[in-house]
Parts: sequence; structure tokens; C-alpha cells
Amino acid sequence: MPNTPLQDKVYLTYLDWFQEAEKDRRWKVHSDIPWEKTTKGNVPEELVSIVETFTGIELILPDYISELLHFYRKCRGSSWFIANWGYEESKHSLALDKWLIDSGSRTDDQLAAYQDQVFHKQYQTHCKSPRQAVVYTMVQELATCISYVKLEKQVKEYEDAALSKLLYFIFRDEMAHYKFNLEVVKIHLEEDREGTIKQLIYEVQNFKMPSTDIIPEWKKRDQIIQSHDVMNQEVFVESIFLPILKALDISKKEWKRFSRELKAALEITSV
Ligand SMILES: [Fe+2]
Ligand SMILES: [Fe+2]
Repeated sequence: MPNTPLQDKVYLTYLDWFQEAEKDRRWKVHSDIPWEKTTKGNVPEELVSIVETFTGIELILPDYISELLHFYRKCRGSSWFIANWGYEESKHSLALDKWLIDSGSRTDDQLAAYQDQVFHKQYQTHCKSPRQAVVYTMVQELATCISYVKLEKQVKEYEDAALSKLLYFIFRDEMAHYKFNLEVVKIHLEEDREGTIKQLIYEVQNFKMPSTDIIPEWKKRDQIIQSHDVMNQEVFVESIFLPILKALDISKKEWKRFSRELKAALEITSV
């Protein structure tokens, strides 16, 4: 079966994105981070625990890849993106793990026990279509990027050059992941503006990170994340929701109108 025009556009978007990734964004876990500048005991335990939480989130990788590839199998642009995305995400957990061990913040056994707990639960996406998956992933990647940006700001004063550098590499990757998904959402908007905006409204109003159900002691960990302004409601509105509306050129008037319609439609279907 020939590709649809949407699949062709996604593939062209991927080619541009991949070329830029190869040219400007490749980094190596073992040789591009100044590991010799890792500090021991400088970074406070609460920030260390956020690093540990984030390495747990990065471990959801196998579940995430298998769930997303199921949607995108027939769309080469999206499938190839997931393959490349998986490679990049795999480096994030390797780098975070290495820092936790090298800094003496966690032992091999402690990290193995934590990872075992994370792997114990399997992540299942709530998404039911490729469009829903790309809209959700766009929001989630920007939320992830902003969380790393905020964490990098918080750790700066403790002068751990290795941690700062690896957080920089990670948030730069996460921003690129957001941008690919953003471009694909724009393609969906061209095809079905109303349907795509309603999907976005649903995903924003019901948004939660995959980690909520997977990471052990999530409530306690989330409180620490929120108290350090790494992610909370205010950060979500200012740094995720409003920038996405702007990037997609969706007016507040349009958002309100479709929100009302979506609410009414969901009320009818739930009767
Ligand atoms: Fe990541
Ligand atoms: Fe990412």
C-alpha cells in the first residue's frame, strides 16, 4: 500500500531532524562528560534523589518503544524516529547511573535494587491512535526537557561539572525530541485542525508523566521535585502549555471554543 501524504511529510520531517542530530547533537557518554570533575558529597541528597528519580523515568524505555512502535509500524518517518530516539534515551540513563555511582551517592547494589523495582511494573500507554500518541509525546518531551533544565539550574551552585554537562546534553536531546513531535503535530493540524486541537486539549487536561505509576515512592519523589520547582503546576502552565500553544499558533479563543465542545461531547459519551 502506498504511503499517505501525511506519512510522506512525516518522513521528510524525520530526514531533516536526523541530519541535524547527526551533525550537531551527537555526544558520547564515556568521553564527552568531564567525569574526573565529579564531586563527592557536594550535591544535596534531595537533588541526588531527583537524579535517581529521573534515571528511573529513563528506564521506561523498552515499554515506551514497544508501545509506540506498535502505532507507527507503517510510518517509516515515525518508526525510524523511535529507533533513533531509543538510542538517545538509552544514553540518558547510562550517564545518570554513572554519575550516581561515581559521585558515591549510590552504591551498585542500591541502584540495582531501585532499577529492579522500576522494571517490576510495565508501562502501558493510554493512547489509542498514532495522532494521540504524538500529541501526548510532544507534551511529555517538553515537560521532560524543562524538568532537566530546571534541575541543571538547581545543581549549578554545587559546581559538579560532570553532572552539569550531562544534564545539559540530556535537556538538549529532550528539546530535539519535543521539536520532532511538534513538527508532526503541525502536520496533523494541517490535515484536521479541529480534531488535533481537541486531542491536545484532552492530553493537556489529563496529563500525567508515565512515571506516576511506575517509579517507587512516587508521591514522596514528586513532592521533592515540586518543592525544588523542577516541575509543578506553575512550571507546566508557563513553560509547557503556553509555549506549545504559541508554537502551534493556537489562539486562546480557539482553545476555549474547542474545550467547551470537547467537554460537551465527553459528557454525552459518558452518559
Ligand atoms: Fe531522556
Ligand atoms: Fe526524550
